[in-house]
Amino acid sequence: MTLDSISPLDGKRLLLIIGGGIAAYKCLDLIRRLRERGMTVRVILTRSGEQFVTPLSISGLSGEKTYTDLFSLTDEVEMGHIRLSREADLVLVAPATADMMAKMAAGIADNLATTALLATDKPVMLAPSMNSQMWHHAATQRNIAQLKQDGILMIPPGSGQLACGEVGAGRLAEVDDMVAALETFFRPSGPLAGKHVLITAGPTYEAIDPVRYIANRSSGKQGYALARALRDLGARVSLVSGPTNLPEPAGIETIQIESAREMLAACEKALPADVVLCVAAVADWRTSQEMDQKIKKQNGALPPLDLVENPDILKMLATPGDNRPALVIGFAAETETVAAHAQAKLDRKGCDWIVANDVSLKNGQSVMGGDHNQVSLLTATGTEDWDSAPKDQVAKRLADKIEQYFT
Ligand code: CTP
Repeated sequence: MTLDSISPLDGKRLLLIIGGGIAAYKCLDLIRRLRERGMTVRVILTRSGEQFVTPLSISGLSGEKTYTDLFSLTDEVEMGHIRLSREADLVLVAPATADMMAKMAAGIADNLATTALLATDKPVMLAPSMNSQMWHHAATQRNIAQLKQDGILMIPPGSGQLACGEVGAGRLAEVDDMVAALETFFRPSGPLAGKHVLITAGPTYEAIDPVRYIANRSSGKQGYALARALRDLGARVSLVSGPTNLPEPAGIETIQIESAREMLAACEKALPADVVLCVAAVADWRTSQEMDQKIKKQNGALPPLDLVENPDILKMLATPGDNRPALVIGFAAETETVAAHAQAKLDRKGCDWIVANDVSLKNGQSVMGGDHNQVSLLTATGTEDWDSAPKDQVAKRLADKIEQYFT
């Protein structure tokens, strides 16, 4: 997925309940469109829904098992209705029939769909579809009022020619409108909405030959935690990551690279950005030439490792110019005289802030790879020393500082 097209649905999970209406066919296209946007879609198909679309066609599009039967022993073992209803970020019922809405309003749970709806702790959205007389019927309108009062969200039906031949309200919303409603629901809102943040994280690997490389102990944890914290404030985040064992965070465009030069190229491609955070522990050197074949031992002689310096990504991104992000933040990994080295780095790199941390071993433990960090924030106006805290909390505090910078 390209930077510009990353959808708010990327990485999100939908439980789609397909009710029994002629418009159920639209859900096949809906599933395809949601998956294209990076969403995971699991489907419960009601008995009456099965009259209009088949579990096979749904599974073919969703890439997941389609759930149909409340009392299926295997389903209960594999995935009970409670889990099914909770392992989603949102539950969408489409088409939501008059009957389904009446049951929901009354709290009836007599099949897998209605049971999952009663058991869920996630937001529920309905896309109703029915004949217009049924839509306007006092009972249906009463049920809708009750459901809205219960916090259920609605994608209103459209008006026009209905499958029964009548004209009026009750037509299932178009697929485009359902996708738009879901995107609106998941679109990040928050103080950093509209801002693009570029983050480098993890180590870089500099190949020596096909089996060896120069690397360092960075785990990527602090950079990934920052990516999540800034995403949660509504920013669009691009994460350029060296090799780590961490899962790619949802809703974040993660670009996997190995070497410093690949990291620089990925960063340049990701620009423009409003903020850049260089959290990566970039290898300072690489060999002048990567060998095509494994270097063999040569009668006790050491291999000729001719090292050259890697590009300084932070320094390059901080260089004044049209593409310079408004806020450029570097990290300083030091093992001694942390404050002095960090201050020198702030001046030398041309960045706006430096987050300094002591990465020396303390009682055999290092910040690198660990879950805690103790940092100092250096800016043009002074230095703040923060208490040691879990990396997630350090990330949240720094993300709040970035928010304050922009507000
Ligand atoms: N950095 C970078 N590209 C490099 C080296 C470092 O972008 N080739 C960034 C790091 O991501 C970090 C900052 O520069 O934000 C400082 O990195 P650090 O390793 O602490 O310092 P060095 O630049 O390597 O300087 P020194 O060797 O003096 O410690």
